[in-house]
Amino acid sequence: MKELLESIYKRRSVRRYSEEKLSQEEYAKVEEYLHRLKPLIPELHVEFQIVPCSETNCKFNAEYCLLVYSQEGNLWLTNVGYMLEQWDLYLASLGIGVCWYGMGKVEEERQCDLVYAIMLSFGKCDSDTFRKSEADFARKDVSDFWTGISDARLGEISRLAPSAVNSQPWRVEQVDNKFNVYRQKGNVPLLSAQLFKRWNKVDMGIFLCFLDIALECEGYAYSRVLGTESDEGKRVLVATYTLENK
Ligand SMILES: Cc1cc2nc3c(=O)[nH]c(=O)nc-3n(C[C@H](O)[C@H](O)[C@H](O)COP(=O)(O)O)c2cc1C
Repeated sequence: MKELLESIYKRRSVRRYSEEKLSQEEYAKVEEYLHRLKPLIPELHVEFQIVPCSETNCKFNAEYCLLVYSQEGNLWLTNVGYMLEQWDLYLASLGIGVCWYGMGKVEEERQCDLVYAIMLSFGKCDSDTFRKSEADFARKDVSDFWTGISDARLGEISRLAPSAVNSQPWRVEQVDNKFNVYRQKGNVPLLSAQLFKRWNKVDMGIFLCFLDIALECEGYAYSRVLGTESDEGKRVLVATYTLENK
């Protein structure tokens, strides 16, 4: 996933698209990459469907939407976030705009043993849409979410992860070469609590994707034990990492 590092600095949620259509070659690349995504949980079956954006409830003028369906299971939404963030970053490298669209709804929630997870809009956009510097990011400081950090680079890269309503629900606690990654539940109005519960699980997968890219780029060997997607408590343990070689 190392090759995605550059895109971390340029990607942004694209909500305004150009009239230009994807070329056949671009469409083929976008579709083919879906088969190369690295899962967090290989046992969970995930499928994709590309449909015209105009056939969805997405309110952007994108050419397409990607609908994501997954088998349910522990951390299934986190797995979806982990996989599709790679795709988001890859499309940024091609100059194609993407936006996660949590407000998306589909008529058929279920497809055999798979359940609708989320949609992402995508299409051509002006080349100056993408970020040019780190100053363009509105994110928490590393010290606001990671205690005991041993390598500042890991925090500097992972802090740039996108999240629903920029909520940045991740918290990391490190002691020596081990750190726990938590999902922190916010104080949101009851009405949106259900939505946040779902989106923040996707956000955690996006964060783990950024973290793994950072670890790879910084040359770490590491092991990861996954936690849970449980809804109990204010803070939920999503993963424990052990750094092996530094
Ligand atoms: C799981 C998820 C759901 C999102 N849903 C929406 C959405 O429904 N509508 C929207 O305009 N943006 C949506 N976003 C985009 C976020 O608002 C955006 O990622 C965040 O504000 C950070 O900005 P950036 O992506 O430009 O870096 C979503 C992002 C994520 C990760």
